[in-house]
Amino acid sequence: MAKEGPEKTEETEHMIEKNGGKEQDTVLGAADTKEMRAVVLTGFGGLNKLRVTKKPMPEPQEGEVKIRVKACGLNFLDLMVRQGNIDNPPKTPLVPGFECSGIVETLGENTKGFEIGDRVMAFVNYNAWAEVVCTAAEFVYKIPDDMTFPEAAAFSMNFVAAYMMLFEVANLREGMSVLVHSAGGGVGQAVAQLCSTVNNVMVFGTASSFKHEAIKDSVTHLFDRNADYVQEVKKISPEGVDIVLDCLCGENTGKGLGLLKPLGTYILYGSSNMVTGETKSFFSFAKSWWQVEKVNPIKLYEENKVIAGFSLLNLLFKQGRGSLVKTVVHKLISLYNQKKIKPLVDSLWALEEVKEAMQRIHDRGNIGKLILDVEKAPTPLMANDSTETSEAGEEEEDHEGDNDNKERMPFIQ
Ligand SMILES: NC(=O)c1ccc[n+]([C@@H]2O[C@H](COP(=O)([O-])OP(=O)(O)OC[C@H]3O[C@@H](n4cnc5c(N)ncnc54)[C@H](OP(=O)(O)O)[C@@H]3O)[C@@H](O)[C@H]2O)c1
Repeated sequence: MAKEGPEKTEETEHMIEKNGGKEQDTVLGAADTKEMRAVVLTGFGGLNKLRVTKKPMPEPQEGEVKIRVKACGLNFLDLMVRQGNIDNPPKTPLVPGFECSGIVETLGENTKGFEIGDRVMAFVNYNAWAEVVCTAAEFVYKIPDDMTFPEAAAFSMNFVAAYMMLFEVANLREGMSVLVHSAGGGVGQAVAQLCSTVNNVMVFGTASSFKHEAIKDSVTHLFDRNADYVQEVKKISPEGVDIVLDCLCGENTGKGLGLLKPLGTYILYGSSNMVTGETKSFFSFAKSWWQVEKVNPIKLYEENKVIAGFSLLNLLFKQGRGSLVKTVVHKLISLYNQKKIKPLVDSLWALEEVKEAMQRIHDRGNIGKLILDVEKAPTPLMANDSTETSEAGEEEEDHEGDNDNKERMPFIQ
């Protein structure tokens, strides 16, 4: 990874003023070559563990690309990282974020395939939520001229995960049926769009009811997230479905397996249900694991069913499959160029608005992907902000729902 000097804990002047919610007007420009702005997670916990600070400018190592970031993807996983709700969490403080888009600024030694000025999107193993990012060239992809930076930041994680699950793991083909949870979210919408690239694929989706009107054209049959979806699916398709994509680890595994047709594939790829509040709940964590169904391999063999797991970040950063992912990105870019897929951006937020952006996901408010727009100025707070001006590194108490009394107006697309 890129080499950095000792971390600075000083807050930038970009934080929002407490009184009146007025923004301060100094912005660190691209000309400042020694430092950059970044979102820092000071410790695992609630939203108040996030702040924007100055960090030393990273420089690319051999084989790396240095990117001037324009937009960053905010994924559900980032909420889980913030809470420390993941396996082997890294040490804090850290800069969160796994994907971004921007412009190539410099190249490390022996870095091939890119030129300064290229428009790119990239995966990063943390550190994406910053003005500048360095990452290995194998995780960087050129983007089409007509793809905007927010679209690019909404593209890689959601579409690569959706594509690999549907086509590499489950072998989606004409005439099949798919069940996906959180159908209005980033991955859910990518799944729905990719299913529409294959003839005659029926998509069953669950989502909060208020999203149904917005996403009804992308999903064949929509159910409320609290509905008895097993019964609902069986009413329409008594035989069940060919592919179940489950991001609600634990409580749905048995239901998902039960819904599979012979030769069907169940893929577990997330555990959104472990997030029950602003901070990690050990009770929910334990409950989820307790509820994970014990799968009997003999039953799988007798019933002709396939059970699989998928983790894109592990594939990229732990299992060395960067070149496989690159071929998938190229296929996806071709689909984008043919106008068969297009990332759905829910809203754009300034780095300083990361807490409110995360709150929107906690509140299940997003339809599509949330983007941190590095060049966007924060909109003024509409009520008292009681958390944002504290010094970086200073320990604070967590306040569940501490954003309840304030609201910003994001740029909703
Ligand atoms: N394995 C992989 O490689 C991989 C890659 C990317 C994402 N993922 C996983 O895929 C899932 C979706 O990720 P995403 O980034 O696209 O997020 P997302 O679906 O946009 O996440 C937000 C939505 O999730 C639903 N949700 C379900 N449980 C929730 C909870 N406990 N709290 C708040 N919202 C909840 C809500 O929609 P409704 O209310 O409409 O249900 C909410 O609007 C996550 O579990 C994520 O970890 C896995």
